[in-house]
Amino acid sequence: MDALNDLFLPPAKSTLASQTDTLFWFVHLSSLALTIGLIAVIVYFVYKYRRKSEDEVTPLITHNNKLEVTWSVIPLILVLIVFGWGYQVFMNQRVVPDDAYEVNVTAQKWIWQFQYENGARTTGELHVPAGRPIKLVMSSNDVIHSFFVPDYRLKQDVVPGRYTEMWFNAPDPGESIVYCTEYCGTDHSNMLANIIVHEQDDFENWLAENAGGASKPDDMPPAEWGKQIAQEYACSTCHSADGSQMVGPTWKGTFGSEEPLADGSTVTVDENYIRESILEPNAKVVEGYPAVMNTYQGQLNDEQINAIIEYIKTLK
Ligand code: CUA
Repeated sequence: MDALNDLFLPPAKSTLASQTDTLFWFVHLSSLALTIGLIAVIVYFVYKYRRKSEDEVTPLITHNNKLEVTWSVIPLILVLIVFGWGYQVFMNQRVVPDDAYEVNVTAQKWIWQFQYENGARTTGELHVPAGRPIKLVMSSNDVIHSFFVPDYRLKQDVVPGRYTEMWFNAPDPGESIVYCTEYCGTDHSNMLANIIVHEQDDFENWLAENAGGASKPDDMPPAEWGKQIAQEYACSTCHSADGSQMVGPTWKGTFGSEEPLADGSTVTVDENYIRESILEPNAKVVEGYPAVMNTYQGQLNDEQINAIIEYIKTLK
């Protein structure tokens, strides 16, 4: 089984992944065995019962109770086994252990954000301790996304206006990729995140260092902090800092410029316009760009918004 796994499946990096794999191979290999057996019998019968002479008459067989019961009961047993087994594996995945460490997940076009019990936040990176059940409480700010971790054999829809849950336990430190598997627009295929599994001690340290990341470290210039926030909140997935064309307007050289709006008027890119664009992105959309950005109201405080503005000012 291990050899098959290595050949066909991504590495199994959670405590439950191998349960899914074993069931998968059972369904797969028993289907394969039945298919091969069936084809062999068909080929054999076609040959054995071929028409041998012009006046040969086919015997009339109306039914055969023994055979009919056999080919009904064997598949029935197989299906019941798959049902019972599948139910067990499914329940193991759905019932969250009581001592699970909880992380909040927010999906938004086209980023994954994570918030930890001590207030730390990350975007695009989920940090967790090894060997401990992790419960994810997930919701979306806009459309339906889906949180898929092939290494854990887990997938869960993330829906606006309600919470969905999933849990996993990754026994070994390492990294796994999260994919969005519900089509959600332009950058759906780039809506990725990394799960970083730390040793328990490393995780505690990481958590302590990143606690309450919403205020500026003392000795850091605001523009530098703004750059860090722009990366943390994944602004850079849609806005380049080097003038290259992405989903949204580039930040390079934008400050102080005059930009055309969709309604034919123009706007000067100053502090007020940038602030408004962060809090009410679709109020004044620069012509030629889609109105797809979500508000960061409630996610970025004034100090953080000011830092981003300072950062944009430095991109001349
Ligand atoms: Cu989010 Cu696709």
